[in-house]
Amino acid sequence: MSNWWKHGIVYQVYPRSFQDADGDGVGDLAGITDRLPYLADLGVDAVWISPIYPSPMADFGYDVADYTGVHELFGTMDDADHLIESAHDLGLKVILDYVVNHSSHQHPWFKESRSSRDSPKRDWYFWKDPGADGGPPTNWVSRFGGGSAWEFDEQTGQYYLHTYLAEQPDLNWGNADLRRAMLDVLRFWMDRGVDGFRVDVAYRAMVAPQWRDNPPNPDWKEGMDPYRKLQETYTKNLPDAHVVGRMLRDVVDEYDDRVLIGEVTLPVDRLMAFYGKNADEYHLPFNFNLIHSDWTAESVRAHVDAYEHHVPTTGWPNYVLGNHDQHRFASRVGPAQARVGHMLLLTLRGTPTIYYGDELGMPDGRIPPEMVQDPWELKTPGLGLGRDPARTPMQWSTATHAGFCPPDAEPWLPVGPGADVINVEVQQQETSSMLSLTKRLIALRRENPALHAGSYRSFDTPEGVFAYARQSPEDATDRFLITLNFTAETQTWTLPDGLYGTVEASARYGRRDDTVQGILALRPNDGLLIRIEHSP
Ligand code: GLC
Repeated sequence: MSNWWKHGIVYQVYPRSFQDADGDGVGDLAGITDRLPYLADLGVDAVWISPIYPSPMADFGYDVADYTGVHELFGTMDDADHLIESAHDLGLKVILDYVVNHSSHQHPWFKESRSSRDSPKRDWYFWKDPGADGGPPTNWVSRFGGGSAWEFDEQTGQYYLHTYLAEQPDLNWGNADLRRAMLDVLRFWMDRGVDGFRVDVAYRAMVAPQWRDNPPNPDWKEGMDPYRKLQETYTKNLPDAHVVGRMLRDVVDEYDDRVLIGEVTLPVDRLMAFYGKNADEYHLPFNFNLIHSDWTAESVRAHVDAYEHHVPTTGWPNYVLGNHDQHRFASRVGPAQARVGHMLLLTLRGTPTIYYGDELGMPDGRIPPEMVQDPWELKTPGLGLGRDPARTPMQWSTATHAGFCPPDAEPWLPVGPGADVINVEVQQQETSSMLSLTKRLIALRRENPALHAGSYRSFDTPEGVFAYARQSPEDATDRFLITLNFTAETQTWTLPDGLYGTVEASARYGRRDDTVQGILALRPNDGLLIRIEHSP
C-alpha cells in the first residue's frame, strides 16, 4: 500500500519507558515486541521508536556510539529483527530515530577524529583553532545549559563544535566520507525492513557553516532558558539543512514505501521549506505548532487555518501534541481538554503522531530532585525545562510499577501520578475512558475516507468553539463536522442552515448516537464528531 503514512497514525515509543521485559527497570525491545498487539488493537499504523543504539546515554540515546548496533540495555540485533518482523506480521510499520546532527563522543569515528589533526576522520567533525582572543572560535552556545558550544581538546589544541552536550559532537556533512557512512546507515536499517526514519533536529544539519557570531536576542530575560540569549542566525535553519534533507530523501527513495519524517521546530512559513522545493525532502516535517499555540479555540483555529493554507499541494500535513521533549499534553491543557485535543488530533487533515501514554491522558510525572535524569534539567535546574516528567513508565495496569517492570525491579523513573486509574487495564474496561475514546476515533478515522483523506474547511463560530468539516474527495455524502468546545462552560452554536447529523463520538462522554440540527449546545469541555446526514 503506497503512501501508507498519509492515511496512517504514528505512535511514538520512548524505549526506556514502554515495557521492561528483562527486569532491569529500563524498557527494552523485547518489551516493545510484547506490547505490539496492544498497538495493533489501538489501531495505529506505525511505531516510531526513539534511539535504540549503543550509547553512553549522556542524552539518553540521542548520543549515538554506533548507528548500526543495538544498546545492550535494549537487547540485541536479533531482538530488533524480531521486533520488525512481529510488527510487520501485525500490519504495523517501524520507524527508527536517525540522529543526523551529532554522534556520541564515544563513537569510534569521533575517537579517531580527535586522536590527531592528521586523522583521516579529523574532518568528519567540526574542528577549529581558538578565536583571536584564544577562546572559542565563535560565541555559539550549547542548546543544553547555554555554555559555549565549543569544547577545547588539549591533545590537539583545537576546539570541536557541539550544539548539544560536549558528549554530542556535531557531524560535518560537508565531508564526503562522513556522508557516505551516514547514508549507509539508512540503507542498513531499510535492508533490515525498517519502514522509515524520524530525523532528529533535521533543521540543524550543517555542510559548510559560516563561522560568525550569533547576534544577541533582545527579548531574552533572566529566568529564561540561557541558551536563548542569542539568536540562531548562523546555527539553524540554514540552506545546508535542505542539502542534507535531499540526500537523505534520495536514499530513502531507493526503497519502496518508506517515510522520512523531520524534526523541525519552526513556525509554519519556514517549516514548509522542509517538504523540499520539488517535494524532495521530508514527507512529513513535524508540525509542532499545536504544542506552541495557546490552547484556545481561536488560537488553534488560526494555527490550523494558516498551516492548511501553507502546506504545498505536493505536501501532506501532520500534527503533533506531545513527545519526549515536552511536558505531557494532559498536564499542559488539563485532563478534560486532553480529550478534546485528541479529538482534534485524530480528525484533522494530515498524519497524527501520538506520544505513548497520551492515549490514556497520562500527566507529567513528579520527579524528586535526587531522581532527576535529564541532562538539560541537571544543567539548568528549576526552569521547568527538564524532560523526565514526560518520560515516566507507560501505565499498563494496576500492578506494582503500573505493570511496566517486574515488581522487584526499580523503574528508572518513578511511575506517574494517578496510575491506579490512568492505565490500560482499567481504561480498556470503561467505555467512556480516554483510551476507549482514542480507539473509537482511530477506528472512525480508518473507516471513513473523509477523515483520513478528506478536505478541511473551518467555520466562524462563537468564542471558545472551533468547528470544521471534513469531506471525502470521492464521495460527497461522506462528510463530517467536528465541533470542539475549548472552554469549561456550555457553548451554543447554530449549525449551518439545514444541516442534520448524527453524533459518532463525544470527547467528553465517548460514544454517542443522538442526532443534531439547529442550535447545538456544546457541553463544557466537550467535542462532537458529527456525521453529516444532510446538508443543503
Ligand atoms: C532532539 C531530541 C531530543 C534530543 C536532541 C538532541 O530535539 O528530540 O530529545 O535531546 O534532539 O539530540
